[in-house]
Amino acid sequence: MDAKDYTAKLIEHFQHPRNVGRIPRPDGVGVIGDPSCGDHLRIYIKVEGDRLKKIKFEVYGCPAAIATTSVLTEMALGKTLDEALKIRAQDVASELGGLSAMKMHCSNLGTAALYQAICLYRQRQSRGKKGTVLFVPHGTE
Ligand code: FES
Repeated sequence: MDAKDYTAKLIEHFQHPRNVGRIPRPDGVGVIGDPSCGDHLRIYIKVEGDRLKKIKFEVYGCPAAIATTSVLTEMALGKTLDEALKIRAQDVASELGGLSAMKMHCSNLGTAALYQAICLYRQRQSRGKKGTVLFVPHGTE
């Protein structure tokens, strides 16, 4: 795998990732790792009026993991939580102009972490409410 396998947009996001960092006292955090490659990331969210007001991430990973998470944060920012939950790894790859089959798993990290962060937020919101579904594992919804 080398640079010729990456689109210009992917390389640009890798070199200048957006929304990197932490959010103090976030409303939700998603932490995910891929045991097959050792990469992992965290996504922090702030929610206002059911919309994603802020998203930040920290990643220890390959160029594709950095770029896909960067573009994911741009895609999700300002969306309602339900809209953000509909963003799939394939949508992220398409936004970057494509991703090789070998690198598709990299775009799963960000979407899975965002899903977790939103679930954690909703779990906190619904704490104490009887009969509320608190967590649905990614991919089983
Ligand atoms: S190689 Fe593991 S996330 Fe890209």
